This record gives sequence, structure tokens and C-alpha cells, in this order.
Amino acid sequence: MILVTGATGTVGRELVRLLLESGERVRVFVRDTKKAVALFGSNPSLEISQGDMAIPETIDHALKGIDRLFLSSVADTRQVELQGNVISSAGAARVTLIVKLSAMGTSEDSPVSLCRMHRLTEMQLEKSGIVHTHLHPHYFMQNLFDFSREIIRHKTLQAPMRNGRISLVDARDVAAVARHILTTNGYENRTCVITGPESLSFSQLAERISMVTGRPLRYVDIPPSVFQKKLTAAGTPEWRVNDALKSFEIFAGGYSSAVFNTVEEITGRRARSFEQFVKDHADRFRPKGFLATLLDLFQKHRS
Ligand SMILES: NC(=O)c1ccc[n+]([C@@H]2O[C@H](COP(=O)([O-])OP(=O)(O)OC[C@H]3O[C@@H](n4cnc5c(N)ncnc54)[C@H](OP(=O)(O)O)[C@@H]3O)[C@@H](O)[C@H]2O)c1
Repeated sequence: MILVTGATGTVGRELVRLLLESGERVRVFVRDTKKAVALFGSNPSLEISQGDMAIPETIDHALKGIDRLFLSSVADTRQVELQGNVISSAGAARVTLIVKLSAMGTSEDSPVSLCRMHRLTEMQLEKSGIVHTHLHPHYFMQNLFDFSREIIRHKTLQAPMRNGRISLVDARDVAAVARHILTTNGYENRTCVITGPESLSFSQLAERISMVTGRPLRYVDIPPSVFQKKLTAAGTPEWRVNDALKSFEIFAGGYSSAVFNTVEEITGRRARSFEQFVKDHADRFRPKGFLATLLDLFQKHRS
């Protein structure tokens, strides 16, 4: 049986669905049982284990009868401790494989603190002797949902990206890679860098969103200081703001544009394009209901 941590997250929820589709027996480790039931419904192949990575006894309980594990949690300053608890319990429970979700650029000397934390966890995993695979995905296409409000209300996509291009990836493809590695052999003790199929600038992202939604959208390049203020105003903790600024500095410099064919090599299916991603989620980038009417009226009034 496979235990999925981070099961209510962007990658985890998709992974659970894919594993169930493949006929696997899955247990999800979740803080909120109701959230899991709402997401996954009832399925004879699915078990829900309520717990918290901060409480080792709950992890021990969830690991009973588990042979393979997907390790993921939210970006958190306690990540090394929380994921470390899971690795320690998994060692005692004789888990045979851990697939760990890290991030592209994970290294001990990364300027991005989250990438340094991922590396510390990877090192603990390597030392544990448990067979493992590290996943290093690029920036998720799903992060564009964070820009939805501005896209819908102001018809702008604002970031400090200059002309930098990134090979962003659909989180559904990250889940597909994880599913494959958890259910086949051949990726033991390896690191898999996962990107989308093309490298795009934010101007090109705006063009594609506009093309699919049929609404004008303009990329506006903003200085890092303005981006910092926006993130802070949105309630983002200071360490996350600093990580975002470092990441966008790397992206804007064009250092994160390489395309890897990992999704196709591992799953046998080409990685989803950004255009496909927008088509699948077009509603997230268009006004709905009352807001749509209001914006239409405002537009008519101005023209
Ligand atoms: N976003 C990106 O562009 C990107 C790119 C590359 C790598 N990554 C990496 O991907 C990881 C996040 O994956 P994601 O986006 O799929 O997840 P996510 O949407 O951020 O969700 C995080 C998951 O972790 C669970 N969780 C958090 N704290 C927990 C705890 N103490 N005990 C048990 N469960 C806990 C959450 O449960 P609740 O539902 O209870 O909150 C949720 O299921 C991060 O490590 C990040 O560095 C992200």
C-alpha cells in the first residue's frame, strides 16, 4: 500500500487520483479528514489517516502496512523537522521506497532557502538507507492562479521577469511522474528534474492566456521592490517574499529556461503545454457571474 503525504496539496491530490486509477491501494495522511473526503469521496481502495507531521505518533500509525511513500508538505520554515519526522518513522516501519517532492535548484548552497531545506531533507533520506527518488520540478503552471485576480480585474500580468524565460511545468505532470516512479522500477536513488515542454517569457504567458480566454492581457514588468510590496501586502511571510525575489531574479536572468524531456521519458506521454493548461482552467482566468457583468458595464461606460 502507498502512503501519500501532502495529499490535499496541488500535486498530492492529483497523485491520489492517478494511483487509484492505476488500481493501487492508497492511504492518505491528512490533517483534515473532511477536506480529504470532499476531495476524494469514498473508494474501497482509499484509506484516510488523520494526523500531523509535527506529531510522530500519528505518522507511525499511518505507516502501518505501508511499503511505498510519497513525501510532500507545504513550504514551511519547519519543513526539515516535519519531513524528517516522516523519514525517521518510515525507517522504523521498513518502508521500501520514498519519492520526495523537492524543487528545481535544490542544493545546499541555493540562494533560495526552501531549496536548501529540500536538500537537507534529501540528505537525511540518503543517509537513512531507504531507496528513494528525488523529484526536482520547475515552477508550477498552477502558480499562475495567484495572478488571477489581477488578470481578471486589471487585464495585466505583473512580475519582475524582464524577458526571462522559464520552462514551467503543469503540477499534474509532476504527479504523473510520481505515480510512475511509485509503481514501477528503474528510478531508484535518482534525481529527476521535471519541466514543461517549452520555455516561455511572462509576455508569452500573457499572450497565451489572452488567446484562450479571448480577453486582452498585457504583461507589465515591475521592479522587484514593487513585487516585494505586493507579496507583503498579500500577507506572504518575509522569508517566502525573499525566496520569491531570489527565484524571480534567477528566472529573469534566464538561468532557469532549460527544457528536460523527463515527463515523456518516464510516463511515455508528452508534458502538457501552457496553452493546454490554460484551456483546462480557462474559468480561473475569466470573470464570473456578477463580477463579469460589472466589468462589462465598466468597459462599456469607458468606451
Ligand atoms: N509551487 C511550485 O511552483 C513548486 C515548484 C517546485 C516544487 N514545489 C514544492 O512542492 C511542495 C508543495 O507541494 P504542493 O504544491 O503539491 O503542496 P501544497 O498545495 O502547498 O499543499 C501542501 C500539503 O501539505 C500538507 N501539510 C502541510 N503541513 C502539514 C503537516 N504538518 N502535516 C501533514 N500535512 C501537512 C497540506 O495539508 P492541509 O490540506 O492540511 O493544509 C497539503 O496537503 C513544496 O515542498 C514546494 O517546495 C513547488
